[in-house]
Amino acid sequence: MLQITEKQVQDSITMEMALPVLRKAYEDCMEGEIYAGGRIFTPVRGQENVGQWLVANCTNQPYFGSKFSSVFPQNVKKGLPSVISKVSLYSALTGELHALIDANYLTAIKTGGSAAIATDLMSKKDAGKLGIIGTGLQAFSQVLAIQEVRKITELYVYDVMPERVDRFIEQIETVKNSPYKIIAAGTANECVAQSDIICTCTTSLTPVFEGSYVKPGTHINAIGSFTSFMQEIDEETVLRSDKVTTEHMEGLWDAAGDIIIPLEKGLISKDKVNGTVGDILTGTILGRENDQEITLYESVGSGVLDIALSIAIYEKFRK
Ligand SMILES: NC(=O)c1ccc[n+]([C@@H]2O[C@H](COP(=O)([O-])OP(=O)(O)OC[C@H]3O[C@@H](n4cnc5c(N)ncnc54)[C@H](O)[C@@H]3O)[C@@H](O)[C@H]2O)c1
Repeated sequence: MLQITEKQVQDSITMEMALPVLRKAYEDCMEGEIYAGGRIFTPVRGQENVGQWLVANCTNQPYFGSKFSSVFPQNVKKGLPSVISKVSLYSALTGELHALIDANYLTAIKTGGSAAIATDLMSKKDAGKLGIIGTGLQAFSQVLAIQEVRKITELYVYDVMPERVDRFIEQIETVKNSPYKIIAAGTANECVAQSDIICTCTTSLTPVFEGSYVKPGTHINAIGSFTSFMQEIDEETVLRSDKVTTEHMEGLWDAAGDIIIPLEKGLISKDKVNGTVGDILTGTILGRENDQEITLYESVGSGVLDIALSIAIYEKFRK
């Protein structure tokens, strides 16, 4: 059994390697060659801290596996990651454990990569102004990934903890792939009003910007909310969205407070959600029909993507 550490994952994985693996995982999922099981979710001593298990099973490769993540938002104040994840990858031939993989960075690359695939399919081709709300690891990987699919001209950044914005800008300066300007936004609404693509990557339980600030033509990646009671995106934004997609429909109806809360209030019906990123990739639905549409990728995670990326990493280390 291999143990693959956080550092080994970081040293071996790039966005360039991850994007084709994730695209193929979406396509394989559409063919039933990999599928996700139901997620297990448990609040830990109150609603703020949670544990979550995602599972996936391959029918075209001899693997199945699970990812456990704990999300403890106050960890940032203790200098610890707020999302801590580990993958267990098993043999589908013997049931033996092949690998235990530290998956904090893997999760971030997966989440960023999937959002970049959605952004490529849903945002305007000339979308160049990127707005990031939240400045943790997921925010970092969103920038890393989206700069691969759109030519960024300006990056706007906002966080409720201003000291984290300076550190984040320094980090992005070291990885940006072209000389775009990076601007600390004064408010989340200002960040939104300036941007063609918005990524919300916070641990907030309540909406982080007002939907009236979203410009026609904007694409939004809603990354942070992953429980039925978390609402990072307000109802106006959901109502104004012309297209709504996700990674995995069952996962969305289990976990996306951004969508479940307006549904429960009777503001939207289930057909507000058009389908998955896999549906766009395979031509079943359209990602965008014109430059005025507001598009929303509501991300809640999917074991399919985590396990597909874990297999790629495991196969690299097994050699
Ligand atoms: N969709 C997915 O597949 C997926 C995958 C991994 C993590 N996540 C979720 O993404 C979120 C962020 O993860 P992370 O690892 O970057 O966390 P993190 O704690 O490192 O960063 C979160 C940031 O959000 C900021 N923040 C909190 N409330 C805010 C608000 N109202 N406005 C602006 N900023 C605010 C915090 O100050 C912090 O800097 C978590 O909720 C996590 O569970 C989702």
